[in-house]
Amino acid sequence: MRTVLIVGNWKMNKTASEATLFIRELNARVLAQPARVELVVAPPFTALESVRIALGASSPIQLGAQDLFWEDHGAYTGEVSAPMLKDLGCRYVIVGHSERRTLFGEQGDRIQKKIRAALNHGLRPILCIGETLAERDNGTTDNVLTQQLHDGLSGLTTEALSAVTIAYEPVWAIGTGKSATVEQAVAAHRTIRRVLAATASPAIADSTRILYGGSVTPQNIESLLASDQVDGALIGGACLQVESFATIATVASATRSIGV
Ligand code: 13P
Repeated sequence: MRTVLIVGNWKMNKTASEATLFIRELNARVLAQPARVELVVAPPFTALESVRIALGASSPIQLGAQDLFWEDHGAYTGEVSAPMLKDLGCRYVIVGHSERRTLFGEQGDRIQKKIRAALNHGLRPILCIGETLAERDNGTTDNVLTQQLHDGLSGLTTEALSAVTIAYEPVWAIGTGKSATVEQAVAAHRTIRRVLAATASPAIADSTRILYGGSVTPQNIESLLASDQVDGALIGGACLQVESFATIATVASATRSIGV
């Protein structure tokens, strides 16, 4: 069974001090009303340490990063490596987010190097893929998803693939308030599973978690998780307030509390 995973991608929001206050409040909420799904917060690099401290040793909330560089160390000004993230207590790392692809020019080979670096150091990568509105409109969504999966994952062993999570994030749904419909999300998730079955194995296709991301809110999380094709959510805007993120966790727990 695939355990539901709810990830909050803070993007470039909250200073380290703001993060501490936020996590204290979120942690108290989650401890008072334990979530029966896996919860991850992915703050900016600058807040990872203060979030780790504020979570403490016994929090059920896990730590993730929003990106990484593929080398372990060296002359790479401004970059952060997998060993650095691991040392700060990160368990997950987001790779290939559409904002990295469009604003920072990340392409397939870079994304695959990052996935491999994460896996080599015991971090669980969350590979983001998704089509633009133009690609959806011209009917190439499946081709785009297939290409992005190949770029990110080709050549990985079955063991490596078993640590990977996929996030389907249609670019047109990110930050727009216009979520994909349940039918659109389910269709894309089925495509992703078909590609995984053909290129890896049916067992990998069956065990890989596929999250949906793009304007997820406390209002639409229940209908998205009503399909067993959707194994969780990658949340942007709605993860920045304790109330909305905690409500999403509560609704997800009530809708799908499998495997925990
Ligand atoms: P929004 O939830 O703000 O649409 O952002 C989604 C996202 O990009 C998560 O990675």
